[in-house]
Amino acid sequence: MIGQLKYVPLRAEYLDQVLEIERVSFPTPWSKQSFLSELHDNSMAYYIVCMLDEKVIGYGGMWIILDEAHITNVAVHPEHRGKRIGQGIIFYLISKALSLGVCRMTLEVRPSNLSAIKLYQRMGFQAAGRRKGYYTDTKEDAIIMWKTLICDNIIRDFSEKEGMECPDTKMKSN
Ligand SMILES: CC(C)(COP(=O)(O)OP(=O)(O)OC[C@H]1O[C@@H](n2cnc3c(N)ncnc32)[C@H](O)[C@@H]1OP(=O)(O)O)[C@@H](O)C(=O)NCCC(=O)NCCS
Repeated sequence: MIGQLKYVPLRAEYLDQVLEIERVSFPTPWSKQSFLSELHDNSMAYYIVCMLDEKVIGYGGMWIILDEAHITNVAVHPEHRGKRIGQGIIFYLISKALSLGVCRMTLEVRPSNLSAIKLYQRMGFQAAGRRKGYYTDTKEDAIIMWKTLICDNIIRDFSEKEGMECPDTKMKSN
């Protein structure tokens, strides 16, 4: 990929670009108001964007509740999918969670969403159950995935291999 790639915390000025990606990525996209209240009113929420030069090409976020993190959304602009941007976003979320002492991370994914499932499995998430009819828009079940962060060799090996380092966090070495 040509250009400068960086992962930075979400700011209100990026929201229009985030909403554009949200709209083409999900059957029931979040509204601007939902993102604004995540940014300003939810102290448990942490969101990042991936920027190529000065353009937002992906984003992701999570809620951190005590020692658990719940990934709320991850999306990459269709033009940039399959280039490991999603992997970078998850990597940064995991690194942030680790730096805050989080022990476990969870997320829900549609069984039909094979790209996302592949990505999460690659990052060490494992299916641990199903929520029947979780997605009210399509009535699909959700696969619930979990990842334990203690002794996280996957993320340590990955960060060494990719030469990636979080700007505002320090990796915990177990
Ligand atoms: C899921 C998503 C975030 C992945 O982002 P990404 O940057 O493409 O992720 P990666 O490149 O790290 O990995 C994508 C995986 O999907 C696979 N894939 C399958 N079809 C693909 C396609 N049309 N384009 C790109 N990747 C595809 C890739 O091969 C890759 O797996 P592999 O390299 O292990 O074979 C992205 O597809 C997306 O935004 N989807 C819509 C929103 C969404 O479903 N979010 C997740 C909600 S749970």
